[in-house]
Amino acid sequence: MFFDTHAHYDDERFDNDRDAVLKSLPEAGIGAVVNPGCTADSSRAAIALAERYDIVYAAVGLHPENCAGADEADFAALEALAAHPKAVAIGEIGLDYYWEENPPRAFQKEVMARQMALAEQLDLPVVIHDRDAHGDCMDMVRAFPGVRGEFHCYSGSVEDARILLDRGWYLGFGGALTFKNARKAPEVAAYAPLDRLLLETDSPYLAPVPFRGKRNDSRYLPYVAERIAAIKGICAEEAERITWENALRFFALEGTR
Ligand code: NI
Repeated sequence: MFFDTHAHYDDERFDNDRDAVLKSLPEAGIGAVVNPGCTADSSRAAIALAERYDIVYAAVGLHPENCAGADEADFAALEALAAHPKAVAIGEIGLDYYWEENPPRAFQKEVMARQMALAEQLDLPVVIHDRDAHGDCMDMVRAFPGVRGEFHCYSGSVEDARILLDRGWYLGFGGALTFKNARKAPEVAAYAPLDRLLLETDSPYLAPVPFRGKRNDSRYLPYVAERIAAIKGICAEEAERITWENALRFFALEGTR
């Protein structure tokens, strides 16, 4: 079975067929999905999906692109949602310096730091979004040595990966790994130990080849697993089994599935 560690089924692009897609996942070999939140509302929606579907778990968090105006009420809402039995991480949180219209960097950092502190307090792993903000994200990792987590859709260097791996962090890889122009990600996937890799789709975004540009969903995850298997020189079944176990360990779900 496959574990999709990152899929946004609360996204409006699933409004017309969300139930049909989610119901079809088990027969496609998808045994578990973590749906990260991007705002307090989206985190609430993630929890609602987790309550409705056995295979869905939630992460709760404020995404850097969506954190404008984040206030105490949002942080209190996250803390309350994180107490839910199917809330398995704080995410997705992080820094995004790619889009100019994103909230100011200083504010993004403040919001991320608050959520790193919340993860530490609740002893939950974090799911990090890092786009064009590698240096500041690494500083944040160093500033919270008690926090463990994952960089989703890892796009950093092998050097930064080594620092993260040494600190017990995990690296998430998805459709971007299958793109023809992918350079750094395959290099890092080859370098990282197999037991620290997490598979993800980031649905509805980043569909793998040969579906690039289409709406993504967890049923395309096997294409990512195949790519990982090819990079590691193992069979696809082994990549599937090991990344499944990795995700259970990472989200502390061992013994529950
Ligand atoms: Ni995401």
